[in-house]
Amino acid sequence: MTDQDAKTEIREINDGIYRDFFEYSRIPMILVEENTIISLCNRAFEALSGYSIEEVQGKLSWVTMVSDVAFLEKMKNYHYKRRIDPFSVPAEYEFLMTTRSGDQKDISLSITMLPGTKRSIAFLLDITEKKKNETWYKAVFENTGLPSIIINSETTIINANTEWALLSGYSIEENEGRRRWTDFVHHEDLERMRNYHRMRRLDEYGAPRKYEFRFVRRNGEIRHMINSVTMIQGSSYSIASLMDITELKEAEMERKKLEDQLQQSRKLESIGHLAGGIAHDFNNMLAAIMGYSQIIQLRLKKCHDFFLKKNTDLKKMLDEYFIQNKEYKNSGPGTDTVLSNLLDLLLDCIKTFEVEIGNVARAGEMAEEILKASQRAGELTRKLLAFARKQTLELKPLNLNNILTDFEKMLLRTIRENVSIEINLSEDLGNVEADAGQIEQIVLNLSLNAQDAMPDGGKLIIRTENRFLDENYTRSHDSVVPGYYSMLEISDTGAGMDSNTKSRIFEPFFTTKEQGRGTGLGLATVYGIIKQHRGSIWVYSEPGKGTTFRIYLPQTDRKPDITDDYTGDHGVSGDETILIVEDQEQVRNMTSIMLKQQGYRVLEAENGHKALEIAGSFDGKIHLLLSDVVMPGMNGRELYNELLKIRQDMKSLFISGYPREILSHHGILDEGFNFMSKPVLMAEFTGKIRKILDS
Ligand SMILES: Nc1ncnc2c1ncn2[C@@H]1O[C@H](COP(=O)(O)OP(=O)(O)OP(=O)(O)O)[C@@H](O)[C@H]1O
Ligand SMILES: [Mg+2]
Repeated sequence: MTDQDAKTEIREINDGIYRDFFEYSRIPMILVEENTIISLCNRAFEALSGYSIEEVQGKLSWVTMVSDVAFLEKMKNYHYKRRIDPFSVPAEYEFLMTTRSGDQKDISLSITMLPGTKRSIAFLLDITEKKKNETWYKAVFENTGLPSIIINSETTIINANTEWALLSGYSIEENEGRRRWTDFVHHEDLERMRNYHRMRRLDEYGAPRKYEFRFVRRNGEIRHMINSVTMIQGSSYSIASLMDITELKEAEMERKKLEDQLQQSRKLESIGHLAGGIAHDFNNMLAAIMGYSQIIQLRLKKCHDFFLKKNTDLKKMLDEYFIQNKEYKNSGPGTDTVLSNLLDLLLDCIKTFEVEIGNVARAGEMAEEILKASQRAGELTRKLLAFARKQTLELKPLNLNNILTDFEKMLLRTIRENVSIEINLSEDLGNVEADAGQIEQIVLNLSLNAQDAMPDGGKLIIRTENRFLDENYTRSHDSVVPGYYSMLEISDTGAGMDSNTKSRIFEPFFTTKEQGRGTGLGLATVYGIIKQHRGSIWVYSEPGKGTTFRIYLPQTDRKPDITDDYTGDHGVSGDETILIVEDQEQVRNMTSIMLKQQGYRVLEAENGHKALEIAGSFDGKIHLLLSDVVMPGMNGRELYNELLKIRQDMKSLFISGYPREILSHHGILDEGFNFMSKPVLMAEFTGKIRKILDS
């Protein structure tokens, strides 16, 4: 064999190896001529395309395998350009191949020009399976129904779905690669988020997989979200899906608010019980203190007047005596020593009397002080009782507008000049059942508070309006029932309150005012009065933004009475017979002394049975029964019924430490009876008795 032969043989062997390599390669390959005809293909291509080698080689143009017209144009373009400059077009791309049977396959195509020729060799990779997974993954990502993103380690958004685009306010294109996840995190939550992100990269389980944060949308709106994050296995990417819990969160906050409200009203309720209990006992004690000090005052006055008169008379008589008996003064010893001693004694007495008369007058002034102090204490207990809803109200149908119109003058006199008062009354305001005096008390307390909140002046606005509170409203406002209400609104342009102060203002003794300036009972009283009227009060306030109080009182169909005048000019004393029935000895004695002092004849009994006994055996007429209501054994009302059988024309006045409403509520005393609540002031008390006796 010559060298040449050997070389030829080696080339043939090599050619054979190349051919086998080409033919048996598992990667489908084709050799493409300039005119798109496939001049060579291997077995793997046969299997991929469904065409036989015979059908392909030298006959088939690759163009027949591309059915997407637009894409075909692009491929053709590449094909021709590549022949001019191989680097001007992509060497790899994907396309959809149509096989002989008409199936479509996803192919990744890789093309190289054979050097020195116009031919190219193409490798085709079937990526149909891979593509399918990708599509499915995309469909899942897109259709989870949750805003989702894939982010890289720098938190740049790599992929975003439509839900995310809708939530963020930016399109998918504006998100992907162009925005960071942290762009959407509320600045107060940002540090925490960043930490989680960092920790998760160090240890996949190093940060919570789910957490809450606030999402800031393009338009600035803040939504509450739960984020659920996982790292994508084997990569530095993580996938985050969000759930919008804003509505839930708001409902939760609303619930919390209601709960706080409930808690608040329960707290006030229990403080109310306590305060009410104390105030009630206190009132009985005060009744005694006030009664006795008034009696002492009267006694002292009588005593003072009596001694003053007698002393003056005595002095005058002695002066006359001395003028008539001038010689007495000049007479030496031996005159009548008894008379002389008596005269000395009298002169001494006159001096002492003068001193004592001064003392009695001062004692009278002290009794006056006791009375004043107990009146102030009575005022305090009245406020506490108001808060505890245990005071006696005189509920009558009335119109808030009339009260406000009448009260305006009083307000103008009371409120500082640098606070202007604006009153806007709704023309057709409905009537309510209320105690006029108490409503004035409310307006006054709220106005004074408003004034205090505006040290540099401002505006006090009082408004009334008809309101229908529907179930929507009442559901979110504890203890309000749906219906028609008259609203009384009192606003100021003052300092306002923070939420901490706001949550405590109705508590008795809560005040932010310096010591000695506020008792902290103003709003507690207001609260109690309103509750007793079955109304409600709400406050709206923020620091620096003023305060608005809104009061809702249920409306009534009843019309206001034509004025019920109480100011008849009745005397206070009399000589009629009054039967006092009172189980508390102190109070009974005190009342008895008080009435006797006014000239009345008094019969006393400590209970109903005793009273019946006395009434049965007493000869004269009994003009008035003055009775406590709640007593052991027979109550005041039952006693009255019994007494009426034997004393038909007897009148009655009931007194109690309990409010009238409670008594009538328990069926003890109906409306229409004469009634006074303890403690009573003597003048009011005797005035009322006189009025009843004269009626
Ligand atoms: N209109 C208002 N503006 C700002 N703060 C107010 C207003 N009304 C009430 N407050 C706050 O509520 C607190 C309690 O008010 P409340 O009327 O019960 O007591 P007070 O005014 O402090 O004392 P009192 O009324 O017994 O003299 C006040 O000390 C004040 O802090
Ligand atoms: Mg006040």
